[in-house]
Amino acid sequence: MCGIVGYVGNEQAAPILLDGLEKLEYRGYDSAGIAVCQDGKIKMTKAKGRLKVVGELTHNGETLPGTLGIGHTRWATHGEPSDVNAHPHMNKENSIVVVHNGIIENYLKLKNRLIEKGYEFVSETDTEVVTQMLDYYYNGNPLQTIIKVMHRMEGSYALGIIFNDHPHQLYAVRKDSPLIVGKAKSGNIIASDVPAVLKYTRDVYFIENEEIVCLTEEDIEIFNVDEEIVHKESVRIDWDVNAAEKGGYEHFMLKEMYDQPKAIADTISPRIKDGKIEIEELGLSDEMIRGIRKIFVVACGSAYHAGITGKYVMEDLARIPVEVEMASEFRYRNPIVGEDTLVIIISQSGETADSLAALREAKGKGAKVLGIVNVVGSSIAREADSVMYTWAGPEIAVATTKAYSCQLVSMYLLSMKFAQVLGRITDEKMLNLVEDLKKIPDQVELLLSHKERIQKFANRYLAAKDIFFIGRGIDYAISMEGSLKLKEISYIHSEAYAAGELKHGTISLVEDGTLVAAVLTQEDLYKKMLSNMVEVRSRGAFVLAVTQEGNDEVERASDYVIYIPNTNKYFTNSLAVIPLQLFGYYIAVGRGCDVDKPRNLAKSVTVE
Ligand code: AGP
Ligand code: GLU
Repeated sequence: MCGIVGYVGNEQAAPILLDGLEKLEYRGYDSAGIAVCQDGKIKMTKAKGRLKVVGELTHNGETLPGTLGIGHTRWATHGEPSDVNAHPHMNKENSIVVVHNGIIENYLKLKNRLIEKGYEFVSETDTEVVTQMLDYYYNGNPLQTIIKVMHRMEGSYALGIIFNDHPHQLYAVRKDSPLIVGKAKSGNIIASDVPAVLKYTRDVYFIENEEIVCLTEEDIEIFNVDEEIVHKESVRIDWDVNAAEKGGYEHFMLKEMYDQPKAIADTISPRIKDGKIEIEELGLSDEMIRGIRKIFVVACGSAYHAGITGKYVMEDLARIPVEVEMASEFRYRNPIVGEDTLVIIISQSGETADSLAALREAKGKGAKVLGIVNVVGSSIAREADSVMYTWAGPEIAVATTKAYSCQLVSMYLLSMKFAQVLGRITDEKMLNLVEDLKKIPDQVELLLSHKERIQKFANRYLAAKDIFFIGRGIDYAISMEGSLKLKEISYIHSEAYAAGELKHGTISLVEDGTLVAAVLTQEDLYKKMLSNMVEVRSRGAFVLAVTQEGNDEVERASDYVIYIPNTNKYFTNSLAVIPLQLFGYYIAVGRGCDVDKPRNLAKSVTVE
């Protein structure tokens, strides 16, 4: 789930492991640990809490000499966060050590079997079963033993493994949890994500499911489960290393909000040619687009919210029916999907377990799958039939901002492209939309420059208990995102409601001083929204309105107004989201929350 780093080479391993794990901290974790092998002896240090505790206990790694090691940041799935449950996990003889990301689903069955054979367990984790099984099957040949254990495990895993009688080899294997290998000057590295290795190398190998890697200081060997060598090309990562650094901002989240104008421009500009939309990598011919009878957008969290906005735009522009569903629901309910269905999976990380499973479900049923993905070479990007990348660059803060904004514009581009192919849009309307699309980066920039106003407002609500976000139509979609952004980082309870639905129950929660953020950007819905705002205000609510410039009428139904620049009715969410992001951010900062790494959350949710 969280972070793995491993190193073998001619430099001391521990500082490299700590440095790599630090780069993965953004993914969220509750404990950390490292293990190093020197002269056939394995030593480990692990602790609940922040990685810096492990740094302190080892004097930044100095007290653990040795040039072969593995490290881990844990996001507990089995067993509470504690020193004992933290990884690595060793067998009784201290001869085999393991770090693991993921979940071993049949761990109880395996554990009981091992207990019958006399094994004792010290932790509550599913991971310890892997260590003990490796011990049980070990025949002196690590590769064969790992394969044997793989055949017995169900679930998802990326594992880093050291055997003390092979003190110059680092082993790793994956299934449904990400794993990469990088070739550095002084040796070789494994990691669960690219930022951990960028300091040492830009050439990485993406390890596929059920591939086993054996690294030595000089070599990288990759095997399949038949012990055959797998040949693989490395991929050059051309991100700027600074893109993964804070660059003077107080938090990654703030920096990433400021990255938005560029990220949006990078995502739209390669896809606009001569006033038309061209998405080269789409992998759908015009004829195929004409054959689509239904679109499913499947995703989780904010990516799901981007899908809901996408539905409004796609249905209105291209007139293709769109259903948006959470991946965790879609995958288990036997959805009606066939060859004339396009399934769009939206994911920043490209590793979200439920989204990946939904992709496989859809593909298995014969649907064409398009990924809208940010992380190049991620599992969803590789397994989808085609992939349209969002060019947001690395996103570190757990709360997504720039990737979400790029997902929105990707959905606009796709809707415009489909409308164009299906002849459902006039050239003139297309031209106007393209012009509006190009303006979004500057408009976002302008909104960001007014951040102090929102900060001042947010400071008045630091003690709020409940905050409601209301809107209709496309404004309801952005209300959901505003509400999620606020609650995930500030821990204030918040809900998004379709404004017309409030009076069917939720309005009973509104009392004197309750903050209600109302989004109203759709001209045909202004009047209806104004009535809903009056409804809550007359019950004591304080109403913050987000609306288009010129809609002055709103001032009489609200207490505080934030105006967004004018655009067409389809693109308003790209602008309305900015004050909502800033609002969530400043509330969280004001409350002293760990903005970039909110409690209980992980950046990339690779468990179900
Ligand atoms: C958003 O701020 C979240 N932390 C979360 O909802 C996220 O969007 C979701 O987990 C999906 O992740 P993905 O885009 O990497 O698939
Ligand atoms: N399932 C393992 C545990 O709870 C690994 C969790 C992780 O991926 O960090 O220890």
